[in-house]
Amino acid sequence: MEIHVIADPQELGALAASHVVAAIERNSQAVIGLATGSTPLPLYRAWAASVAESKLDVSQVRGFALDEYAGISPEHPESYRSVITNEVVIPVGLTPEFVRVPPSSATDADAAEYDNAIKAAGGIDLQILGIGRNGHLGFNEPGTAFDSRTHRISLTPETIEDNARFFDSVEEVPTEAITQGLGTILDSRIALVIATGESKAAAVAAAITGEVTTDMPASILQRHPNVIWCLDTAAASQLPAELIGA
Ligand code: GLP
Repeated sequence: MEIHVIADPQELGALAASHVVAAIERNSQAVIGLATGSTPLPLYRAWAASVAESKLDVSQVRGFALDEYAGISPEHPESYRSVITNEVVIPVGLTPEFVRVPPSSATDADAAEYDNAIKAAGGIDLQILGIGRNGHLGFNEPGTAFDSRTHRISLTPETIEDNARFFDSVEEVPTEAITQGLGTILDSRIALVIATGESKAAAVAAAITGEVTTDMPASILQRHPNVIWCLDTAAASQLPAELIGA
């Protein structure tokens, strides 16, 4: 496990993006797991800038989004399909047909097919992850089984509240989602987790140093062989000093 603590959000994004770029330099057909939420946005901007500057060929890169709201129209500006298209596919220059988002129809068949598509692509080389205040990864809320595969899930009131900022009102936030499972995430070869802000500090500390328990989904990362944590100072503030070289 690597833990990087960097105060400046742009620098943090650049460091995180350097890991994504390195994965593509190792394999031009790298399979990248893509996260939504506001935290990875500086990474996506830095990745796009790096591609533009270095002329890195990303045309063969495969992408699999972590999750999608159930029942939302893919054309809705806050669907994760729209967010991934607008924040990642277009600015970075990925090939749209190679970037998948779980379908919002979110049936069991959709979920199984999505998991199989990841396996058929050779598995995820590098999974970008944010973390919820309650420790969720993707939309795997507390209580989700560690061996879960892609599945439909009900969102907790806390997550609905947190995501209301993207919608006109809390009533508009979908109450269910389809998400890669914790087992799917654990299968990734590299997990690149980004967390910023004081509101994530408790979840980050619990995930890294606490008990491995389904009450804290991100604690499953203690069982992942290759995790890179990219934290700002506030998100790292509840970690023991010896872990962050402070
Ligand atoms: C959503 C996403 C997660 C993300 C989390 C945190 O619930 N499904 O993948 O990690 O929000 O979002 P933010 O980065 O905006 O705090």
